[in-house]
Amino acid sequence: MANQYSNLDGKLIFTAYFGGVSQGRIVLMHVSEREWERVKSEPVVCDGYEYPSAESARPSGQRRWPLPPVESRIILSLCDLTGTWSQPYVDAGYDVRRYDIQRDPAENILTAEFPGKVYGIIAQPPCTQFAVSGARWWAQKAATQPELLVEAVALVEACMRIIEDTQPEWWVLENPVGRLRDWIGPCRETFQPWEFAMLADDPDVDSYTKRTCLWGTYTSPERAPHPLADGVHKGKMHMLPPSKERANLRSQTPQGFARAFFKANQ
Ligand SMILES: C[S@@+](CC[C@H](N)C(=O)[O-])C[C@H]1O[C@@H](n2cnc3c(N)ncnc32)[C@H](O)[C@@H]1O
Repeated sequence: MANQYSNLDGKLIFTAYFGGVSQGRIVLMHVSEREWERVKSEPVVCDGYEYPSAESARPSGQRRWPLPPVESRIILSLCDLTGTWSQPYVDAGYDVRRYDIQRDPAENILTAEFPGKVYGIIAQPPCTQFAVSGARWWAQKAATQPELLVEAVALVEACMRIIEDTQPEWWVLENPVGRLRDWIGPCRETFQPWEFAMLADDPDVDSYTKRTCLWGTYTSPERAPHPLADGVHKGKMHMLPPSKERANLRSQTPQGFARAFFKANQ
């Protein structure tokens, strides 16, 4: 059994605890402070590594366990067609696993198999049924196509279940501002693409508005805003002409944001 610990809202949470003995060795999981006193001198296995004592794996006062090597850090990128958000992790040598049903039916997150433990999760479930930009059709859709909302909620639930099952060190779920909060509660923060535009290859490309919500246990990315404050293209996403590709273009993660997120979550 691997160690399990989580960093919720920036705080290391020592909950339920603890290791049991596995093959004669203590396996660290969440520790309460009282349990910590009991086990700190015992040999432990942490992220697959053996340490002579729990204290040497987590020196006192240290708020994080030692990180596993980059190539062992599995990142699940759920509902990721373009790969923009996960690309910085690929470039840095992480073990990135992308899932998007448009690319391959085998990548359906409702049916795919996932590892038992992962390092990070980026989830970008479809927003069509939740985004406030579609609010004027909610009543009509509820009357004529209620299954659309049921399916959309099922995908969000699948993301949350995968997060629960794979115990990531951090996770993030993204959706444009809308009614998803009715299902998973208020988000932790919102951002506009232009707020990170200076990290993009071409800052002007990311210089647009699309208020986006983030849930999760990640570290907040540092802003690098475009000097024109609300952007040179403002609402360009809302003005895209109808086309087969419009939905994919609208939902592509902005590159500057993806880079800022990576810098804060490694
Ligand atoms: C809001 S978009 C996110 C796009 C993402 N920001 C990007 O840059 O590619 C939602 C994505 O979820 C994918 N999707 C929908 N149902 C899925 C499923 N059951 N399993 C995996 N992916 C799914 C869609 O194909 C779509 O690309």
